[in-house]
Amino acid sequence: MTAPIIAAFLWLATVKAADRPRSLLDQNAAALSPLRAEVRDAIPTHVIPMREHKLAPSTTNLALQRRANFPARLKNIYDVYYSIDLVVGNQTIPVSVDTGSSDTWMVQEPYECVSFWWDEAGKETCGLGSGFKGNLSGGIIPNLPPFVRSYVDGTFVSGVYGREDVSIGGITAHSQRLALVNYTYWHGDGQTSGLLGLAYPYLTSLDGPDQNQPPYDPVFTTMWKSGAIDPVFSIALSRHEDQGNNNNTGADPGTSSKQESYLALGGLPPVDVDETTWARTEIHGMRAIPQWGFETDERGMYIVKPDAFVLQRGGNGTDAGEELVRNTTQVPVLVDVGATLSYLPKGLVNQIYAAFDPPAKYISTGGLFYARCNATVPRFGVQFGNSTFYITSEDLLRQTARDPTGEWCRIGVTDTDTPPHVLGVSFLTNVVAVFDVGKSEMRFAARKRY
Ligand SMILES: *[C@@H]1O[C@H](CO)[C@@H](O)[C@H](O)[C@H]1NC(C)=O
Ligand SMILES: *[C@@H]1O[C@H](CO)[C@@H](O)[C@H](O)[C@H]1NC(C)=O
Ligand SMILES: *[C@@H]1O[C@H](CO)[C@@H](O)[C@H](O)[C@H]1NC(C)=O
Ligand SMILES: *[C@@H]1O[C@H](CO)[C@@H](O)[C@H](O)[C@H]1NC(C)=O
Ligand SMILES: *[C@@H]1O[C@H](CO)[C@@H](O)[C@H](O)[C@H]1NC(C)=O
Ligand SMILES: *[C@@H]1O[C@H](CO)[C@@H](O)[C@H](O)[C@H]1NC(C)=O
Ligand SMILES: *[C@@H]1O[C@H](CO)[C@@H](O)[C@H](O)[C@H]1NC(C)=O
Ligand SMILES: *[C@@H]1O[C@H](CO)[C@@H](O)[C@H](O)[C@H]1NC(C)=O
Repeated sequence: MTAPIIAAFLWLATVKAADRPRSLLDQNAAALSPLRAEVRDAIPTHVIPMREHKLAPSTTNLALQRRANFPARLKNIYDVYYSIDLVVGNQTIPVSVDTGSSDTWMVQEPYECVSFWWDEAGKETCGLGSGFKGNLSGGIIPNLPPFVRSYVDGTFVSGVYGREDVSIGGITAHSQRLALVNYTYWHGDGQTSGLLGLAYPYLTSLDGPDQNQPPYDPVFTTMWKSGAIDPVFSIALSRHEDQGNNNNTGADPGTSSKQESYLALGGLPPVDVDETTWARTEIHGMRAIPQWGFETDERGMYIVKPDAFVLQRGGNGTDAGEELVRNTTQVPVLVDVGATLSYLPKGLVNQIYAAFDPPAKYISTGGLFYARCNATVPRFGVQFGNSTFYITSEDLLRQTARDPTGEWCRIGVTDTDTPPHVLGVSFLTNVVAVFDVGKSEMRFAARKRY
């Protein structure tokens, strides 16, 4: 185990704001499976009024007797990252949401931003919004080493740990341990002031020279351990930016539009899914990614193993839909809302590039693969259980992320042979993703067209 590996897996700054996917969902309808009923019983959907949940007969799961979920609106920041309002004490602090890290932090005024010469724009503030002011009601936690984190995109934060009540969409983590940052290199765009880390407690222990600090409970863990919610959250990301009225004020399913993005604590977000496509897969422990060198089965991040990657010929010709690749090699993959693109094995991604017509090519100025914006796009999907979740053509070939000539568009999947592989926003905009920490499994269902 080495220190740099566990830079948390927040990739939000690796792609600039111009990188905006747009697309429609084109989902196959898998056969109706018994899983469907099971999933729906286990987790009440938000669209059913809360009172009915409380009255629902409970057979197998305590969930039915508890409160339903509390979807808080996520704000889509150029499709690059998603933010949410945290209420910290009595201050509202917008933060980015990350499922690849576990700490929750925000800058405290005044703070110092390290600026690098190539980053003129963020000189004063590192692109952070206004931070927490004054002192935490729970004070600074004495006798702890400082909070220091670095992220895979080269950014870092440092500060101290303190305690405060933290609320999201009306659910409160009381006396939550969080970090106040006073020294950072960051490149935000002025809209958020920190980060909400939704991964497991284990990651919080990977601190200090030996990366073996006692772990602490992150915000989501505190919430479910207190019984305020069930140990599950789910995420629905919209690939479109919200139009105006985006208030992050929490549960308001009655007025939900299909283009909103949600974090639902304790249940499902209020978006339409193809109910026949529900599939589940185990969340694996840290040792699932051998290159990280962890010996533990402890869960840290949302590591899953897709049952297959499926590539089909695109276009309208007679051979459209022909299966080009079905690779059932089990590869561990992080589900990470903090990553814009999806990062998959090189061999596979090369097959995807070649399946564009005309084929994609590497553009050095963009540092990634691009295809002609009018190319025929193959169908690429990730299979879990009996369902294949396709990345729609506009997420696979992102019309709004163009090279300087304007003729080449960026591919939404990129290759890496250095773990971790990642299913990022370009995948997640096509599904509802349920992070069921209680059952140590993830579930997915295909979004209806939006
Ligand atoms: C997948 O499909 C097979 C064959 O139709 C069925 O036996 C099995 O139960 C299904 N699995 C799930 C998880 O739905
Ligand atoms: C917020 O809380 C602090 C300390 O608890 C208090 O001094 C301050 O007046 C409060 N501000 C508002 C706007 O309620
Ligand atoms: C915060 O606490 C410090 C000492 O811990 C104190 O000097 C300072 O006045 C406090 N600030 C506010 C705004 O309460
Ligand atoms: C940040 O806070 C720590 C702990 O209070 C302090 O030692 C350090 O000098 C501060 N750094 C800056 C840049 O303000
Ligand atoms: C957000 O909500 C606040 C208070 O509920 C309201 O004053 C404000 O106008 C709203 N903003 C938008 C953009 O709807
Ligand atoms: C494919 O068919 C759709 C309608 O089915 C049409 O809108 C589209 O233009 C066709 N594309 C090509 C490349 O022929
Ligand atoms: C399937 O994927 C694995 C892992 O990426 C790779 O090693 C293997 O070569 C692939 N198989 C085929 C037939 O492409
Ligand atoms: C695609 O766009 C290129 C210019 O970028 C053009 O030369 C080519 O003819 C177009 N192909 C089709 C099929 O429209």
